[in-house]
Amino acid sequence: MPRLANLAGDAPAASIIVLPADRLRGELRLPGDKSISHRALMLALLAEGESRIEGAGDGADIRSTAAVAAALGATVSRVGGDGSNVDYLISSPGDAGLRSPAAVLDCGNSGTSLRLFAGILAGLPLTAVLDGDASLRRRPVARIIEPLRAMGATLEAHDHDSLPPVTVIGRRPLRPIDWATPVPSAQVKSAILLAGLRADGTTRVRERVATRDHSERMLRARGVAVRSFPEGAAGAVIEIDGGTAVQAMDERVPGDPSAAAFWLVAAAAHPDAELVIRRAGVNPTRRAVIDLLARMGAQIEERPIGEEREGEPGLSSDHVGEPVADLIARSSELRAIDIGPADVAAAIDEIPILCLAATQARGRTTIRGAGELRHKESDRLAGIAAGLGALGAQVEVDGDDLTIDGPVRLTGAPTDSLDDHRLAMTFAIAGLIAAGRTSVGHPASVSISYPAFFTDLERIRA
Ligand code: S3P
Repeated sequence: MPRLANLAGDAPAASIIVLPADRLRGELRLPGDKSISHRALMLALLAEGESRIEGAGDGADIRSTAAVAAALGATVSRVGGDGSNVDYLISSPGDAGLRSPAAVLDCGNSGTSLRLFAGILAGLPLTAVLDGDASLRRRPVARIIEPLRAMGATLEAHDHDSLPPVTVIGRRPLRPIDWATPVPSAQVKSAILLAGLRADGTTRVRERVATRDHSERMLRARGVAVRSFPEGAAGAVIEIDGGTAVQAMDERVPGDPSAAAFWLVAAAAHPDAELVIRRAGVNPTRRAVIDLLARMGAQIEERPIGEEREGEPGLSSDHVGEPVADLIARSSELRAIDIGPADVAAAIDEIPILCLAATQARGRTTIRGAGELRHKESDRLAGIAAGLGALGAQVEVDGDDLTIDGPVRLTGAPTDSLDDHRLAMTFAIAGLIAAGRTSVGHPASVSISYPAFFTDLERIRA
């Protein structure tokens, strides 16, 4: 019997069967970090000249950003890659040479594309409509419309300006604002900073809880004055001075820690596992999942391999490069922990796979303040409770909080990813440790961030 059915073929499979693994061994190469790949393409669009991006993720979300960059006037060429990641060469006239697109800008499934491009477009003298698939059309946009309007751009959206499509009529220059973000969101922060590039003065974003800082690092690397006080801490203030040109530069993208999280949990939860994960990004604002798993007792060895630096060797700011490490994860005795709202913000994309880890941990894991998960590619709170619940896990959702009791012996059953890549990968990893056959509905969604996921999953069965 094949261990994983329906992998081949043209039409997306309605479901995939994952059978338990006797042992997990092997090395994994991750897709290029999704957040960094988006930003590298967007900043290459804004910079006059040529930028080369090596090892970008080749998931559908990054393809959406590449297509939008091309529609706005950049020449975007795929010049290399290894089937899982892609190298891009982007040649751009710079922001002064960009054009209003002829058609609606299709962001597909990608919230990051839609929200960050809204910030970029707000400061350009162009008109454009940003739209996406059925999932993206359910995701909130008032959080970017309000600050960008306060800066002087004109934005309109569906359903009283709450949902995509979003029409942006840019204005130049924008007014600088001082904005406290009510919901911790790197997308909102980044949209404001990208608009702040074209503001007449210094724009400030105040965060209650620190979110990923790739935009800040990458803007600094490209010659833009961005300051953070205190760096990376809760209650941070980020400032950007408007009016500086973004410089073109080359960049190598680290492996995606959000993808690494699936293998870390697979190894920790499986009784006979050792997995080596190469070149994972371990940026302090992204590594929370590693630290939370370590608190749960996961054995994760981290071997730093330096920083991926961007651009010319002369750039030496501590906050320009991205720290990268090999991770070695092994079978572990997991214990329950308390995951609070700041942890949720820091590990926002990893909560589904952390919930799977919690089903294998001794005691009651509590996750508090996770309401933002309802607004991701699916309602992830409902999806986690239904999917892990179907496998026999004890998961309770109470408002914005979750409790998970463990350890529980999971039993294979049908699960539905709700067409959400992170839920599909979570339930597939569950299938490696559950007894019997686990079926994952809508498995093709993994191609949003990790097209080679199922191939890697099969390869590590020893
Ligand atoms: C992202 C920020 C996060 C995350 C998303 C990528 C980014 O969203 O969930 O997958 O690249 O800025 P929010 O910042 O809106 O929570």
